[in-house]
Amino acid sequence: MKLFLTGYMGSGKSTVAEQLSQLLNLAYIEMDHEIERMEELTIPEIFEHFGEEYFRRKETELLKNTAEECIISTGGGVILKEENRRLLKKGVVIYLNASWDTICERLVNDQTRPLWNGNDDNKKEHFTGRLPLYKETADIVIDVDNKKPEVIAKQIVARL
Ligand code: S3P
Repeated sequence: MKLFLTGYMGSGKSTVAEQLSQLLNLAYIEMDHEIERMEELTIPEIFEHFGEEYFRRKETELLKNTAEECIISTGGGVILKEENRRLLKKGVVIYLNASWDTICERLVNDQTRPLWNGNDDNKKEHFTGRLPLYKETADIVIDVDNKKPEVIAKQIVARL
């Protein structure tokens, strides 16, 4: 079983992946951490030195090389490229649906995400623009507002 967790930045993909990994006894990978490890740079550094396109290429390469039996916590922008959306079809895609208010609350002081920038209107437009792609690629949608990661993980297992 190959499970992809998708959702906007701050939707809780990494923490839920960890919980799911315990429940299902499956390994998990966090794509951003994996890219940081391979590049020996942080995500902001990769964006700063090589640009978003470079990061997106690394994301696609990694997606192509993911193991069959695992849980993959994706980066929020993984759904942007058509090639990636095709690759996601090789597994079950679980979209963690967080509201705009929840995302704002969680990312209020975040400095680690280069695309979480600009004024509130820019951010909201970015968030809203992505929603159709998350929905379109999802096999399972889980609403995550006000839920603990372990509850979300159990709800996912019940839907598999
Ligand atoms: C991005 C989300 C980030 C990271 C990068 C770009 C995006 O991952 O991949 O900063 O385009 O939404 P998280 O969703 O884990 O924050």
